[in-house]
This record gives sequence, C-alpha cells and structure tokens, in this order.
Amino acid sequence: MASLAGSQRENGAPLAETAASGADLPWWKRTTVYQIYPRSFADSNGDGIGDLPGILGRLDYLQDLGVETLWLSPFFESPQADFGYDISDHFAIAPEYGTRDDVRRLIDELHARGMKIVFDMVLNHTSDQHPWFRASRQDRGSPLRDHYIWRDGRGKDGRSPPNNWKSILGGSGWHRDEATGQWYWASFLPFQPDLNYRNPVVKAAMLDVVRHWLKEGVDGLRLDIFNALFKDASFADNPFSFRPVPSEKNPHGFFQRYKHTIDHPDTIAFARELREVVDEHTDPPRFLVGEVFGDPETLRRYCGEAASALHLVFLFESMTTPFSGKAVRRLIAEFERAFPEPFSPTYVFGNHDRPRLIHRFGAPETRDAKAKLIATLQLTVRGVPFIYYGEEIGMGHHEIPLHEGLDPVAARYRFVPQWAVGFFRRRGILLNRDECRRPMQWDGGPNAGFAPASATPWLPVHPESGTTNVAAQERDPGSLLTCYRSLLALRRAEPALQGGALHLHEEGRTPSDVVAYRRIVGAPGDRTFADVFLHFGPKRVSVDVPDFEGRAMWSNRLDETRPAEARLTLEPYEGVVVLSPRR
Ligand code: GLC
Repeated sequence: MASLAGSQRENGAPLAETAASGADLPWWKRTTVYQIYPRSFADSNGDGIGDLPGILGRLDYLQDLGVETLWLSPFFESPQADFGYDISDHFAIAPEYGTRDDVRRLIDELHARGMKIVFDMVLNHTSDQHPWFRASRQDRGSPLRDHYIWRDGRGKDGRSPPNNWKSILGGSGWHRDEATGQWYWASFLPFQPDLNYRNPVVKAAMLDVVRHWLKEGVDGLRLDIFNALFKDASFADNPFSFRPVPSEKNPHGFFQRYKHTIDHPDTIAFARELREVVDEHTDPPRFLVGEVFGDPETLRRYCGEAASALHLVFLFESMTTPFSGKAVRRLIAEFERAFPEPFSPTYVFGNHDRPRLIHRFGAPETRDAKAKLIATLQLTVRGVPFIYYGEEIGMGHHEIPLHEGLDPVAARYRFVPQWAVGFFRRRGILLNRDECRRPMQWDGGPNAGFAPASATPWLPVHPESGTTNVAAQERDPGSLLTCYRSLLALRRAEPALQGGALHLHEEGRTPSDVVAYRRIVGAPGDRTFADVFLHFGPKRVSVDVPDFEGRAMWSNRLDETRPAEARLTLEPYEGVVVLSPRR
C-alpha cells in the first residue's frame, strides 16, 4: 500500500504537528467565495443591465448552491467606461445598479443567512470624471493637483512622455493634458488616472473609504491592481526586458521590466497599514484579498513576513496550468511551499478578465467531466476557492469580434487580427473581456432568464443558453451544478476539507495521471482526515488508499456518498474523496 511517509518529508513537517490547524482557523480561511459581476447576473427592472435587486432576488439560489461569501465587482458611481472599475464617487451607488438602500438590504440579507459579502475596492485610480481629477487637471496650481501623478514631459516643449514607463496594457502610461501642458500617469487605461499615494491627504481619504464600507458591515475587500499602487519616486526609466508578452507568473512584458511601476516596497508597507485599518474591525474579523501578479514568492510578500499585511492574494497561475496530473501536483506543491500556515493559498479558475474555465477543456464530450474534476480540486484542496459566476453550470465562451467589443480593452487592441485573439486566449489572455461577462444563464427562455423578455441585455446571451442553464441542471442529478452543490455541502460538513493541513501523497505511488493528497484536522482523539484522488487521465486506473480507515467516500460521478473501499477504480476524470472516522 502507498504510504504517506514520503509526503510528510516532502511537506517538511510530521502530521502530528500540522494537524492541529483547521477548526480554529478564522472564517475567511475556511470560506468559499463566489464572484458576481453585477452587470451580468440578474436584471430586475428590464433595462438590460444586471442590478442589486436582481442579486437580492437570487440569494436563495446562492444559498442553496452552498457558497458562503459573495464578492461583487464594483457598483459605485461611475461613467462605466470600464464598467465600474472607473469610479467617480466611492460612496455613491451607480443608479443602474440600485441605491444605498439596496446595498443595505444586501448586506443585511446575507448576514441574516449566515453569509458574507466582499466589495471590490479600486484604490489605485479613479475615473477621469471623478471631481478630484476634474479639479486636479484644471491648472497646475490646483489644490488637488497632487492628488494624481503629474510630470513635465521631456524633449522639445515637453512633448515626449516624462520617462519610458509602460502601462499594464502596453504603450506609454503617460497622457498629456493639453490645457496645462503636463502628463498624468495611468497604470491601466487613460481614463483611469492613478492616485498619488505619496500625498498623505490622498492616502487618508482612501483609508476613509475603506473604513466607511467596513463600518457598513462589509466582510472583506478585494483590492484592484493593488501591485501598482506606489510608483518609484525617482521616476527613473524602467529597464529593458526581452519579454514581449506578460504571463500569469511574470507580469513584465512589452520589452520592459516594470521595476519602478509595480511591486514597490512602499506598496507592501501600505498593505500593512491597510491591514491595521481592517483589524480595527474585529466583530466579525474582516479580510483583504489583493489582485497582484507574479510568482508565488513575490505574491507572498504582500501578505507580510508575519502574515501581517493582506490576508490573501489571488494566485492566477491556476488559470493557465495544463490539465494534467503532473502539472496540478506541481501547482499544489508550489502553493503549499509558498503559503504554509499561517498563510493560505487561493484557487481561482476564472474571473471577469480571463477566458472562462470550460474554454480550456476542448472536446465537448469530456468538458463536463473535466469541469467536475477541477471543481473537486478547487473545493477539496487547502486554500480559499473563488468561483466565478456561471462556472457552476459550465458557462462557455463564444467569440465576440474585437470591433464589436464594449470592453475598453477590446477597443485598445482593435488592431490585433482576429486569429491572434485566439492565440492569446489559449494563453489565458482575453483581449475582449465581453466574452467572459455574458449574462448569467438562468433558464432556456428569452434572455436566458437574465432579464425580462422585452429587454435587450447589455451583452448578447450565449447561444448555448437553451441547453446550458440553471433550470435544466437543477433537474439533472448528473449535472455540473449538482456536482458543485454536492461538493460544497461535503466541504461544509467536513472540517478537514475546510481547514485541514494538506499532505501530498508520495509521488510515484499512484499513476502519474492521479493527484492524491490527505487533508487532516484536529488533535489526537478528535482527528479526522480526507484522502482525495483526482484522476486527470482518459483511461480507467486503480489506486490503493494509503493506511485505509475509510468510513465513507464521495465521487464526482455520483451525487451521494457510499461506503468506502480500500482499493479504488477511477474512471476517466473521476475525483474521489475518502473520509476517515474520528480518532
Ligand atoms: C483589474 C480589474 C479589471 C479592470 C482593471 C482596472 O485588473 O480586474 O477588470 O479593468 O483592474 O481597474
């Protein structure tokens, strides 16, 4: 029989020492997060745009699904040039999404159901329509000039940008303002000018925004492009790099190393400051999750040496990890190494910027089985899972040509030929983010149940909505949705799956297509564990459960637990969890 001994050595600590973690972990380490893109979730008033009352109307669905925390993309006042990631008032709600009362109701309703809510905080920049920026750009002597980053240009009449810094999307991030003859800096799109965090007034004002929403009862904050907050005060040129295109693990690209524009030590110091503000609110404790990019070691720095900065960071590497046992095993080992207790990894397979998960699975015949396997991984591995709306029903991609894109990123890349769009998509880069933001598919009726039949949804519903939808899958015991529900229930019932330490089974003891690990929680006498087997291959295989003591087992091919067996036959893409008794 395979033994766990090797994996204990590999993970660096004997089971007895690490097993005590788990039950007493803070709630946010055990939770499951579901991301809603409000514009696309549910339209209650027929204007074609999803809204907060629409979300309120779907809380039963979300509670039944079994997710515990909702993260909402921004719904604050905004010209919507980047659909809410361009905020013009951090305290007001955009009328197309609802009112302050709706926000109040949403927070209260979720709390009454024992659920939590996370808001999206865009601290890095504002809209160019924000009253601060309008005042700032008025003249060089404006009292708000220093709220943003203004510099003189170089060359004749200052007609060249102040330095060679490129934006995250490539191309200079400097934009010349004709009226005052200076340039302002924008890490992302030109209409999203970066705030100047070296100005203490700005920093204090943005911390007030954070305090305000925490006081309103928000349980966590997702921090938009947090890695770009501080730019180097020297304004020295960024060095050359041979990298043409950034990747999930390496954000440098466009032939530049973003040395002075991302991952600045002052940003990490600010993460600690932000943590102190969040820690002022202890009942219940709140958490911060940062959108940062890079290899796991770089990302870990944002969590602070003593886990005293951001609680979590998104680890996007999973978005491009090949669908293979070997690659997934390596990914888990890497995350475990970089984020040991008291840190926690995150597992993310989709969001409002990236190709949808299902897109990566190729042939339609195996798509569902593969999606169930990824769900089994995501909900049984150690870390906080982030599920993107529609992932639970396998909502797919349907190409929307760049020139039809409403997404400002699509407009920016309009020159890219359509064949190249597919090339980038396969590498996890979405040039037209409309493709992953289509309306939620609630049923097979008009507008997929997203909006009243008379409405025109802001983006066309997916042509597969007639067959891929919540209503159809709710009736089907073999559906992806049923699998998610069952997995989420299993996770809630088993403390080992929520917060247990993770030990990868020794490599070579199971077929290379099978990833196997044990989750274990509790002190001796009250210890329980779960062995997880994930089969990434297309052929049936057999594996032995090491040190078998199984009481029950769950499979992603069956919607129920059954008595455990010491030797398992795994079908193609099957995921099995073997549960131990307490001892
Ligand atoms: C983040 C968001 C993205 C947005 C950008 C600018 O990457 O996820 O949707 O466009 O920041 O705020």
